[in-house]
Amino acid sequence: MSYSGEVYVAIVGCGFVVDYYMVTLRAYPWIKIAGVYDIDTARLEQFVSFYDLHAYGSMEELLEDEKVSIVLNLTDPRSHYEVSRRCLEAGLNVYSEKPLAMRYQEAEDLVALAEDRGLQISSAPCSILGNTAQTLWRAVRDQVVGNVRLVYAELDDGMVHRMRYDKWRSRSGAPWPYKDEFEVGCTMEHAGYYLAWLMAIFGPVRSVTAYSDCLIPDKVPGQVLNPPDTPDMSVGLLKFENGVVARLTTTIVAPNDHSIRVIGDGGVLEVDDCWFNDAPVKLRKLHTIRRKTFLSPFRSVYKLRGAPGKRLADTGGNRMDFAAGVAELALAIAEGRLSRLSPRFSLHVTEVALALQNAGTAADVYMTRSRFSPVSPLPWSEA
Ligand SMILES: NC(=O)c1ccc[n+]([C@@H]2O[C@H](COP(=O)([O-])OP(=O)(O)OC[C@H]3O[C@@H](n4cnc5c(N)ncnc54)[C@H](O)[C@@H]3O)[C@@H](O)[C@H]2O)c1
Repeated sequence: MSYSGEVYVAIVGCGFVVDYYMVTLRAYPWIKIAGVYDIDTARLEQFVSFYDLHAYGSMEELLEDEKVSIVLNLTDPRSHYEVSRRCLEAGLNVYSEKPLAMRYQEAEDLVALAEDRGLQISSAPCSILGNTAQTLWRAVRDQVVGNVRLVYAELDDGMVHRMRYDKWRSRSGAPWPYKDEFEVGCTMEHAGYYLAWLMAIFGPVRSVTAYSDCLIPDKVPGQVLNPPDTPDMSVGLLKFENGVVARLTTTIVAPNDHSIRVIGDGGVLEVDDCWFNDAPVKLRKLHTIRRKTFLSPFRSVYKLRGAPGKRLADTGGNRMDFAAGVAELALAIAEGRLSRLSPRFSLHVTEVALALQNAGTAADVYMTRSRFSPVSPLPWSEA
């Protein structure tokens, strides 16, 4: 995604994730960082000296910077609503890390506020803009496996509580915020990675039938979490308006598995890990020989000609282009259109993630409220 002008962004929150943005923003040299702000002044100083950036003295100063058109809200999830609201009220577009907010009503308020002011708010994740998701989407559009009926998607992250998470540091020295991660919950942190793919490909979800539970309450020895029982696993069945059913599992209990299987009448499309935005899309076709019908034991790679051959930066155990969503929003504003990660699309992703997280152990079927206009694929994937 290239642009002939310059777009100035400001960053709020320079914790663990901001380095992922710093590394991936390099691929978009037309996006300039006007300055950054964090309420933690020690961390702010450490960060700006590491990258030689301008630090704002206050949030007010950031909001008054006339160069800035987009604020990257990289604060912790429970601060997203307040920070995004202030930015929108100040007339600035927002690219928020996931989720848009921790409550549906707050997320809806942000979207309504943006629409009211003629602004946009987009939420990560943005990996639907990556080669893998675009290729998978094209394969579905082209009915490479016939009519799709069912999807199994996994976002298992391994037994994080057994790892040395207290030792994890970002490139510029921020600790991994394990307490916050456990309190916010893996479903709010991770489900969006596949929800965004599924919603772009299949459209809105009509209903969610889910179970969520806290299997490991004592993740941090000697510390009581607040709340103490945020689910560390959820399983949901999503019924899409177009009839497709998807099962999405999100845990920090089961061994690492970020795979997806898209099952159609004529075979299965598979991706081994959605956190690698350049992972191959693999295809297993259904064959019939005489009276026997079987799925090919061999996986061929389904490739699209014309996919941009961009080298993705290693963002620490994954290869995700975190900055692509920012670039897409900036281009959309310049072109006078809605971002592919439009406010209502981001709201729908947030609503379904909340339905999965909040299901508990005896939930009724949840009927979604939000809807979004169809998302368009990237032009290269249609050539
Ligand atoms: N940690 C990861 O591996 C990871 C990966 C991908 C996405 N994310 C997402 O990125 C976001 C940030 O995560 P993180 O790990 O960097 O969290 P973090 O806790 O390390 O950093 C958040 C930063 O925001 C600052 N902050 C909080 N409220 C603020 C406010 N009102 N004004 C200014 N600064 C404020 C904090 O002081 C902190 O430095 C979250 O939404 C998370 O879901 C995290």
